[in-house]
Amino acid sequence: MSRSRIACVVGARPNFMKMAPILRALEAYEDLEATLIHTGQHYDKALSDVFFEELEIRQPDICLEVGSGRHGQQTAKILERTEEILINEREAGRPFDRLIVVGDVNSTMACTLAAAKLGIPVTHVEAGLRSFDRSMPEEINRLVTDSLSDMLLVSEPSGVENLRLEGQPNSAVHLVGNCMIDTLRRLLPRAQQLPVLDKLGLAAGEYAVVTLHRPSNVDQAETLSALIDALINTSSRLPIVFPIHPRTAGCLNRFGLQEKLDEASGIVPLPPASYLEFLCLTSQAKVIITDSGGLQEESTALEVPCLTMRSNTERPITVTEGTSTLIGSDAGLLESLLHDVLDGRYKAGRCPGLWDGLASERIARIVAESVSASQGVRQDSPESSNERAA
Ligand code: UD1
Repeated sequence: MSRSRIACVVGARPNFMKMAPILRALEAYEDLEATLIHTGQHYDKALSDVFFEELEIRQPDICLEVGSGRHGQQTAKILERTEEILINEREAGRPFDRLIVVGDVNSTMACTLAAAKLGIPVTHVEAGLRSFDRSMPEEINRLVTDSLSDMLLVSEPSGVENLRLEGQPNSAVHLVGNCMIDTLRRLLPRAQQLPVLDKLGLAAGEYAVVTLHRPSNVDQAETLSALIDALINTSSRLPIVFPIHPRTAGCLNRFGLQEKLDEASGIVPLPPASYLEFLCLTSQAKVIITDSGGLQEESTALEVPCLTMRSNTERPITVTEGTSTLIGSDAGLLESLLHDVLDGRYKAGRCPGLWDGLASERIARIVAESVSASQGVRQDSPESSNERAA
């Protein structure tokens, strides 16, 4: 019997740590053959290649090389190139039986759209998360991806509830936990052996890590300038390590803020860090200040306080159970919570139950069972075998 073909999609930095353990877990199923598609949404060595090396992801089987662009342009390119691949493989007699997408980036949505239109079932990993803020491009991506996916694998209970309220059938929804945390747990010991703190002259537990890249925080001069001022103030109490995303670097330059940042003695600006370097930094930080989605979850898993520079979150468990507090772009709140952290008054969080390092195994099992069930149906059905023969 031929193996079932699973197309696994990655595109941007936050996808790599989620797909790496899924690919590994799928290898345990001999009747499944995974094909890795990289859309090339992120293409810089620091945002892509380094992650493949450190996470030990095999080279992509297919690279779409779409690059950057406006949302419509980028989405359209991914859609067009993915559709072509899916059709070519089908015409060559090697159809994909399922597509797996992770997260909420443009690649996630565009590949889902291509597959759904061709009748290829889609598994969405990290389904059901909702910020209820449609000004975030990721929220649009989440809504479209979930509505077109037939298997919705969820990382926290709020996602199950959101999907239920949207009318998704219970049979499609599975609470599997957080596969990004699988990667974190596997690589934490290796990350903590790196000499990153020594190189930067930092002591464990005596610095903050900052990341900022959301369009709502960095794309407007006034907002970004106020945030940079707040960080500079903060850095008088605690040194700040700031790996800068290319989008943010561009904005800092455009708005003439880079110089101000370079002159602030308490701030250590860095280029984007690799996965292991970054985990080395975050896992030993006193506090994390961020607008990233993934980092809210990683800080909860690491039990490091996280001041989240957003007014909403699609990951509420990081606030209700974890270590995160939403502070929007309120510089005063940032300072007062930072005092709480430094004075030992900040809340303690705990790691959600299913963030146990085994989510990818649960994901692979559900995918394998579903593919073998649909193979069974296909083999039993004369219509479908005629279709296949044709
Ligand atoms: C994307 C995701 C976001 C995720 C983030 C993590 C979407 C809508 N957004 O945002 O959810 O949190 O990745 O990094 O999918 N650039 C480079 N090199 C690259 C890629 C991008 O320099 O390899 C620069 C380009 O100037 C580009 C800009 O960064 O225009 C933004 O890149 P883009 O992929 O559009 O979105 P991100 O802000 O990275």
